[in-house]
Amino acid sequence: MKKAPIKISAAANVALIKYWGKTDLEKNIPSAPSLSVGIEDLRTDTIISESREDKDTLIGKFKKSDEQRILNYVFMAKKLLGVSGGLEIETENNFPASSGLASSASGFAAIALGIDKFYGLDMPREDISRLARLGSGSAARSIYGGFVQMDTGPDPFAKPLIVEDPWPLDILVLVTEEQPKKMSSTDSMNLTKDTSPFYSAWLDTQEADFLKAKDAIEEKDFWKLAQISEHNCLKMHSTIMTSKPPHVYWNPTTVEILHQVQKIQKKGLRVFFTIDAGPQVKLICDPSDTQRVLEQFESTSGISRRIVTKVGGEPQIEQLA
Ligand code: DP6
Repeated sequence: MKKAPIKISAAANVALIKYWGKTDLEKNIPSAPSLSVGIEDLRTDTIISESREDKDTLIGKFKKSDEQRILNYVFMAKKLLGVSGGLEIETENNFPASSGLASSASGFAAIALGIDKFYGLDMPREDISRLARLGSGSAARSIYGGFVQMDTGPDPFAKPLIVEDPWPLDILVLVTEEQPKKMSSTDSMNLTKDTSPFYSAWLDTQEADFLKAKDAIEEKDFWKLAQISEHNCLKMHSTIMTSKPPHVYWNPTTVEILHQVQKIQKKGLRVFFTIDAGPQVKLICDPSDTQRVLEQFESTSGISRRIVTKVGGEPQIEQLA
């Protein structure tokens, strides 16, 4: 009998404590724990259905290398789970892919969730997270919304950070470049690990940063979370800038935004920045200050888009008739 198509919407996430470096390149085992928040409105929508032929097909806009990476992943996932049959995977992002807005996280999370549902496997969430991790380390966290932690270990998975009551925070995404980035996160983190003299310092301090951020979230201490997240972000970028050859993901607008954030923080606006492997900046704001923060960036040249969204990003899974 023909299986019903599945529609999945998975959200991107942004790490406040970054995953940067692996102990196993094939299995995407992170060298250190990470902690992220789901971004409600940056999403990948994917439909998984039976393919007419016995081979997997991908529909969507992809770079050749990304297309091959996804097809290899689907092949590997089916083999691992002991399921067969060609799949048609139609996927679309509502944000520019490969530009540092975490398309691999939402993309691979959507496929992992979709394969589970399509074959009726009903796997525990932690196993779906493990499966997503095999596609991309950060995808393990996009299986959930809200604050999510990812541990290390032989076969790690992500899990939601349980907080007593929700902490509503806004996320302001400032897009400073629409073009795909020149170096992927995967290549950059491997190069950093192998060549940056600061990489060992990064690893040595990661656990302490992670625990501090967890405490800040549990205590809902905005400035504690701001301070540790900005520090962790700049530490990661310092390792990237000191790899051989060196690499800088930022553009002049990225730097301009950092300066403006520091200025408005001094005025008391509750906002902090974080930047993944790309030039885009994500600002985390207390909702009572979001409007005023947005006004500060209205006339900054070089920002092509301002996306105002919030912490959230629970995946949605639907069986189509
Ligand atoms: C800077 O998850 O894209 O966004 O596991 O090689 O696919 P692979 O890497 P990826 O790296 C994410 C790096 C980051 C930090 C983070 O999301 O924690």
